Amino acid sequence: MSGGKREYRLAPAMAVAGDFAVPGDKSVSHRSVMLGAIARGTTRVTGFLPGADTLATAAILRQLGVRIERPGETELIIEGVGLHGLRGSAQDLDCGNAGTAMRLLAGLLAGQRFASTLVGDESLTRRPMRRVLDPLARMGARIEASAAGTAPLRIAPAERLVGIDYSCPVASAQVKSCVLLAGLYAEGQTRVVEPQATRDYTERMLAALGADVTVDGLAVSLRPGRELSAQPIAVPGDFSSAAFFLVAGAIAGSGELLVRNVGLNPRRTGLLDTLLDMGADIAIVERSEVAGEPVGTLRVRPSALRGVDVPVTRVPDMIDEFPAFAIAAACASGTSRVRGAHELRVKESDRIAAVARGLEALDVAVQEHPDGLDIDGRSRLGGGSIDSHGDHRIAMSFALASLRAEAPIRVLDVANVDTSFPGFAALAAAIGLNITVEEGGE
Ligand code: S3P
Repeated sequence: MSGGKREYRLAPAMAVAGDFAVPGDKSVSHRSVMLGAIARGTTRVTGFLPGADTLATAAILRQLGVRIERPGETELIIEGVGLHGLRGSAQDLDCGNAGTAMRLLAGLLAGQRFASTLVGDESLTRRPMRRVLDPLARMGARIEASAAGTAPLRIAPAERLVGIDYSCPVASAQVKSCVLLAGLYAEGQTRVVEPQATRDYTERMLAALGADVTVDGLAVSLRPGRELSAQPIAVPGDFSSAAFFLVAGAIAGSGELLVRNVGLNPRRTGLLDTLLDMGADIAIVERSEVAGEPVGTLRVRPSALRGVDVPVTRVPDMIDEFPAFAIAAACASGTSRVRGAHELRVKESDRIAAVARGLEALDVAVQEHPDGLDIDGRSRLGGGSIDSHGDHRIAMSFALASLRAEAPIRVLDVANVDTSFPGFAALAAAIGLNITVEEGGE
């Protein structure tokens, strides 16, 4: 899946203009398939993200015996099989590049009476899985991983899972969700306490489908025993995809962007707060609610940005947005600082190192810390060649730098943009970036 041969070539551009929507939310799309599959009845999902990550989740649930049709590009019809209706597959279950798929499915499959093997691509096979294996083992699951605690994950048929009270050491929606999904199959209550609040789609969707879920501050409790009953799921646009255009609109020389139908769950919008702290001209011009989630239209215009210290408490609310933030910081006056973001080391790439090397290539002064970065902004950026390390968000973020660059930029190894944002390059070109996609580069 890494597809190191595709690259972006960008020439400097100044003006942006556009009025568009971004693709569906990746987190909600993954969960819609998993929960639709184990609900009773038919789930119609609209606004589904047709990205490689979420399509991998759909393919896996099909392998496990669930009928899933895709009558339109962004629409799924899932014939739910009920909590105990999944069937084992003799073949490996391939999560591709998707950490969310692997960690959530580990929880869902830990309580089944059949064996499963979860595998992933090179990047996913490097990512830490002990964070989910430890609580699952405490629940009685039997899962083998590599000595380093990485995939493949070989899940033995469950004899019996028991609910646990788990204080999660990392702020991770994936870990929380994994434990809650296993809790559906455990005896007694499962409770997860987070160190800091993270995105809450799993508990909200479980509750909407009829599960016995209660939330009390940072604690989420689930009592098993109730079947889930299918409900239509409308997926909002992904804030993390909108984020690239918020930064583009803020650093451009002129113009205005309107981004519609963007999910505005407060556990996702930390970058919006940070950009506003930097002096960005962004307004929420329309607000509504889709299936209980706040959504809105965002209008962004260029403005002079100031460097900021990102509050450590805000890190989980913008955990996927640091590559895009780094480009805004590189174009701001003064120094921006990020700390308390160790988790960035174990995303699709080591995002602290990947951002630091990328900014250096564009002549930006940057200092790497174990848990963050210091970035000295400048008014114009250099050009150069950026290695995205096969990380979709690094690739898209550095494409934006062409709005301030004095020379052409190449972004290498960009095929994985399709994991979360199919059509990114075409949309970026439509709003004014001078971007072309080359196949077969080094
Ligand atoms: C996700 C949670 C986050 C995020 C990822 C999607 C989810 O990961 O980075 O892109 O859908 O639960 P962590 O839980 O590892 O922080």
